[in-house]
Amino acid sequence: MKQILVKNTDDLGRIAADIFESEIKNKPDLLLGLATGSTPLPLYRELINRYETGVIDFSGIRTVNLDEYVGLPRAHVQSYRYFMDDNLFNHVNIDKANTHVPDGMADDPAAECMRYDALIDSLGGIDLQLLGVGYNGHLGFNEPDDVFSANTQVIKLTDSTIQANSRFFENADEVPKLAITMGIKQIMLAKKIVLVAGTEKKDIMNKAMNGDISPLIPASVLQLHRDATIVRVE
Ligand code: F6R
Repeated sequence: MKQILVKNTDDLGRIAADIFESEIKNKPDLLLGLATGSTPLPLYRELINRYETGVIDFSGIRTVNLDEYVGLPRAHVQSYRYFMDDNLFNHVNIDKANTHVPDGMADDPAAECMRYDALIDSLGGIDLQLLGVGYNGHLGFNEPDDVFSANTQVIKLTDSTIQANSRFFENADEVPKLAITMGIKQIMLAKKIVLVAGTEKKDIMNKAMNGDISPLIPASVLQLHRDATIVRVE
């Protein structure tokens, strides 16, 4: 794992955007794996800025998001589909038909998980995967567990994640208890990975990067990836 330490979140956005820009210029129909949450926001702002100034063209870009809450319709302000439209897709020249987020309202969530993995495969696999990391080391919503969860699946959010995400809801009771998350397999099959982390994730990132590779700290699996870059605020 390569680590780039930056001074603040603006620098985090710029450095991560430099990587995105160069990958998009190399392959204008890139399949991007995307994340939600607070940490990627400076990156998304910078990508919008580079689109507005004519530096990045999103017209050929395709995207797959990591996760979605079960039970939230796409128009819900806390759904991850809404987040992506609001924070990136509505502001750049991407074709929304080429943007994919798991369907949290699917009648059969297990079938939706299989559809999502097949979709990623049919799109040729992820070229560049953006990740954040949970305080407990989760990737997407792959929570600490006894085993790495390979495929896209429905998972039960841990109390720690529900508490962390309750800041976006009226209270913790409003946070959905289930989510669909891309599994570790698709993440690890991504050709390139960029993980962004704020200063508040220092402890867990130290464990993930320097400790044992263990499903109890899902982000530790990135030690096995051949092209993973951590962009972290010191
Ligand atoms: C969200 C996701 C999560 C977040 C993580 C960190 O799509 O995949 O793993 O990246 O919970 O969230 P923030 O950036 O809000 O601290």
